[in-house]
Amino acid sequence: MCGIIGYIGSGDAQRVIISGLKRMEYRGYDSSGIALLTDKGLEVRKKAGKLANLEAELESSPVGASTHGIGHTRWATHGGPTDMNAHPHLGSTGRVALVHNGIIENYASLRAELADAGVVFASQTDSEIVAHLVETKILAGSTLLQAMRTTVGRLQGAFTLVAIDTDEPGTVVAARRSSPLVVGVGKGENFLASDVASFIEYTREAIELGQDQIVEMTADSITVTNFDGTQAEVRPYHIDWDLSAAEKGGYDWFMRKEIFEQPRAVADTLRGRINDNRELILDEIRIDAATLRSIDKIIIVACGTAYHAGLIGKYAIEHWTRIPVEVEIASEFRYRDPIISPTTLVVTISQSGETADTLMAIRHAREQHAKVISICNTNGSTIPRESDAVIYTHAGPEIGVASTKGFTTQLIACYLLGLYLAQVRGTKFGDEVLALIEELEALPAKMDEVLDDLSVTLSLAKEMTEERSFLFLGRHVGYPVALEGALKLKEISYLHAEGFPAGELKHGPIALVDQDLPIFIVVPPQGRDQLHDKVLSNIEEVRARGARTIVLAEKGDHEAEQYASTLISLPVVPTLFQPVLAILPLQAFSCELATLRGCDVDQPRNLAKSVTVE
Ligand code: M6R
Repeated sequence: MCGIIGYIGSGDAQRVIISGLKRMEYRGYDSSGIALLTDKGLEVRKKAGKLANLEAELESSPVGASTHGIGHTRWATHGGPTDMNAHPHLGSTGRVALVHNGIIENYASLRAELADAGVVFASQTDSEIVAHLVETKILAGSTLLQAMRTTVGRLQGAFTLVAIDTDEPGTVVAARRSSPLVVGVGKGENFLASDVASFIEYTREAIELGQDQIVEMTADSITVTNFDGTQAEVRPYHIDWDLSAAEKGGYDWFMRKEIFEQPRAVADTLRGRINDNRELILDEIRIDAATLRSIDKIIIVACGTAYHAGLIGKYAIEHWTRIPVEVEIASEFRYRDPIISPTTLVVTISQSGETADTLMAIRHAREQHAKVISICNTNGSTIPRESDAVIYTHAGPEIGVASTKGFTTQLIACYLLGLYLAQVRGTKFGDEVLALIEELEALPAKMDEVLDDLSVTLSLAKEMTEERSFLFLGRHVGYPVALEGALKLKEISYLHAEGFPAGELKHGPIALVDQDLPIFIVVPPQGRDQLHDKVLSNIEEVRARGARTIVLAEKGDHEAEQYASTLISLPVVPTLFQPVLAILPLQAFSCELATLRGCDVDQPRNLAKSVTVE
């Protein structure tokens, strides 16, 4: 939700900033802008629409050579996506340029105060007031660093700010509270950005910033202090993936590339978690065994796709550990006054590690003295930093707005957590845990099998470009798969799609069914005889009303075959693991249909990858 970048060094700042913004465009793409310090002073270009519009503007109205500047790609909160509301914003005299990610909650009172003092605003944004506040302090004699420190003391809400001052040409200053910011450490050049992908081309050495910290950066130095001016503890780290991970590598969309990366991502997420004695090890769980044994309730909290992963996790964790599990949408969690105690384990799931709703849920849970374990894909992000422990999914950077490998690796992390708890609490014998681990280890090859033959799925998409509405049905773990299949279609194709528990259809939604409605149904493995047969009966109900049924069932399920207008076969796996395979054709279907409909698959309208506002 907004990507911001700052650069200082000896390179071409415009090139560095624009290439960085391109890699962060997934964070917001309704407008973008750049401010560079050149021989002519501060030169600013900003444009509504995608980054390509800014590039065109820079071509028609070039700026001078520069080695120092800031840039921004926006997802609008305050003020529509116009040229004027695009960042960077300037102070009244044009001395300070500033970019912002987040929301300034007390902006109305600050704006009124500045207006009373005679400030004239050029935009409707909350961000512009920060540029004015910083510049006012500078004009009163502060350095950029001092002005930033005083200003953040007046702000409420979540923000990452990056600013430059024409009179301090060798310095970039940034501040961070509850929104992402990382420092890229180069040789004779340094970077600041919302996401390491933006500078991975230049350096793989980074510094993780903590909450309420300020960075002052020159080409050769990086100084991090806390908002109160004290020296901050910094955590340098090495980024263990390279530029190719952040590029499309020959695919038309990041989403399609990421769909095909899933077998590797799942294998990487499993790697290192099983020791030579074939026991499950989760070293990152820094919660002692006694505490884990005392847990009497688990609450999984997440948003969107991660929430769907949590719903599947519930089935597995409850089944293996017999601990009751609730699953909650993060934005609802703290407002219902949930019952949490020190023996509650809160498990949050977030690909980005920056989702504000999930972060607020963590803070609420920890205030109630619950232990929090995060499942997260982004090293050094805010959510793992604020949790008691983290299980990293090793999916590599996920850039397509529609989550794919994020989802399947979150499922693996939920399974690992469930099995680990079962191992620690003794609710499963060692050989039972081992048998399940072996099934998990077999998944990447079975995922490859599905992805190697998507012919049925892809031709289905070709046949369905004129459809306007879809249903997705499933029971047990097939139900969250149905929800996730529907979400994928909605977010990138803008088509109406709904996921239902198959057994619930007859309680209302069946009224939607007619011969025009395509329905995807996830059929559980035949081993779950009762469940399997119940789903077949549900298919019968919709077929009786003329619906076209696209049935996902395991290979050799000849009974299910008879209920299918179109059959998509899946390799045989235990029921609890079937979602890892069943979601693959649904992701591929959405990606293909959206492509055929001419939609922007990686940057769907109104969405942003990382949702850093509540
Ligand atoms: O980064 P997170 O996993 O916390 O993000 C949660 C949701 O915003 C995210 O899964 C969203 O629903 C995706 N666009 C779904 O494809």
